[in-house]
Amino acid sequence: MKGISAILLAAGQGKRMKSSLPKVAHLVLGKPVVWHVAQAARAAGIREMVFVLGYGRDKILPVVEAFGGKVAIQESQFGTGDAARCGLAELSAGAKEVVVLCGDAPLLRPATIRALLAARRRQEAPASVLTGVLDDPTGYGRIVRGDDGSVARIVEEKDANAVLRKVREVNSGTYAFDRVFLERGLPRLSDVNAQREYYLTDLVLEALAEGKRVVPLAAGEPDEVRGINSRRELADATRILLERKLDELMASGVTLVDPRRTYIETGVSVGQDTVIDPGVTLLGATRVGRGVRIQTGCVVDGSVLSDGVEMKPYTVIARSTVRKGAILGPFSHLRPETAIGEGVHIGNFVEVKKSRIGKGSKANHLSYLGDATIGKKVNVGAGTITCNYDGIHKHPTVLGDGVFVGSDTMLVAPVTVGKGALIGAGSTITRNVPSYALALCRAEQKNIEGWVARKRPELLKKAGLSAPAAKKGKK
Ligand code: UD1
Ligand code: MG
Repeated sequence: MKGISAILLAAGQGKRMKSSLPKVAHLVLGKPVVWHVAQAARAAGIREMVFVLGYGRDKILPVVEAFGGKVAIQESQFGTGDAARCGLAELSAGAKEVVVLCGDAPLLRPATIRALLAARRRQEAPASVLTGVLDDPTGYGRIVRGDDGSVARIVEEKDANAVLRKVREVNSGTYAFDRVFLERGLPRLSDVNAQREYYLTDLVLEALAEGKRVVPLAAGEPDEVRGINSRRELADATRILLERKLDELMASGVTLVDPRRTYIETGVSVGQDTVIDPGVTLLGATRVGRGVRIQTGCVVDGSVLSDGVEMKPYTVIARSTVRKGAILGPFSHLRPETAIGEGVHIGNFVEVKKSRIGKGSKANHLSYLGDATIGKKVNVGAGTITCNYDGIHKHPTVLGDGVFVGSDTMLVAPVTVGKGALIGAGSTITRNVPSYALALCRAEQKNIEGWVARKRPELLKKAGLSAPAAKKGKK
């Protein structure tokens, strides 16, 4: 929308959080609190955004960057009115209407921002305020309405008397302003109040003094007005955004077997007909395809799962990709930069790190594959380990197409096994193996007849076995 800009107030520390991190940088569903506010503004069609930053500003800059926003610095936090004044100074000349948003209110929806803008325009008012009726209004500024229903005053909790504290309609801290009014009004604010701060809310009085009205708009959902001031409120906001996210996914055709026990962050996408069991956690920018099955206890972070992948219980994946139809788990662990090919099986207690596993290959039991490049249709036997680390450097292991690795093989990297080669079980491979060769590296087996009966008869006794008759002509 042309001519409409946003100022996001995000300079405060948020003392009630008891944290060294600025309040609006705390994460809600995987994104900073203020990211959600900016996202709502962007989705409402607002291009220009000015972020008012102060305390811990470095922690918030990545969000500013993500939205191509501008920064206004408020060195000392003299209140929301002072913060808005800082932001105003950075607005472009083309901004005719200004939406001021509280950086700590992540539940605001784009449709509500649009409705707030429309409400002000419809009544040709200098300002509109988003309000909400809360069961427990503690801590919020209270809305005092005039006889005509417009806003007569906003009184902060700390300035309110007992009667006003009973008012349940609260100020969300979100406003739409006519820019010219904002420029006129902000310098006139005073800090004579309980907190010795310049209150943005006192602009209501400035409008009245000009003989104009401030339009209240009730939020579609009362929860939208909630600000985050404590860890309790952070958890409450997370729960509400999570429910919205899960509802969205279910509406788009994803089965969540028990949504109350499913945690999926904002940035995750999930395809149709995917079924997600209880106790699953999907994080970051994870992309899950169609018809995927994710069983209980799985955690997927920043990874891509293609269509038809099956994740059995308690499998953990970070920053990896898994191609169509692969089967993982139970209890598999894919560490960053792993690429699992189509139809691959990675089974119980197998850890894979920074490796590529080719189409149709299998590593089904108790293995560690690190810095490995594995071809197609390779069989990695139980207990195979890539010895990739010499204490200083990491070294690569390469297995060609169709290699068969017998169980309990140590592959001491750097090492390459040519295609079609076979490695005998229990081998420690330290040299390259040519294609189609058999590699066997273990001590030759020696059987000593009758040894146990002669040297350890007590063992046979314990097992209830009688000693075999001594063979005649024994050497
Ligand atoms: C504010 C409102 C209150 C409203 C509530 C909604 C005022 C005076 N009060 O109170 O009516 O019900 O929000 O959540 O506006 N900030 C700055 N610089 C400052 C002070 C604050 O950038 O000098 C930022 C904070 O980082 C925060 C936002 O403004 O993101 C709101 O500040 P906060 O201290 O949380 O105000 P509340 O007491 O919650
Ligand atoms: Mg607040």
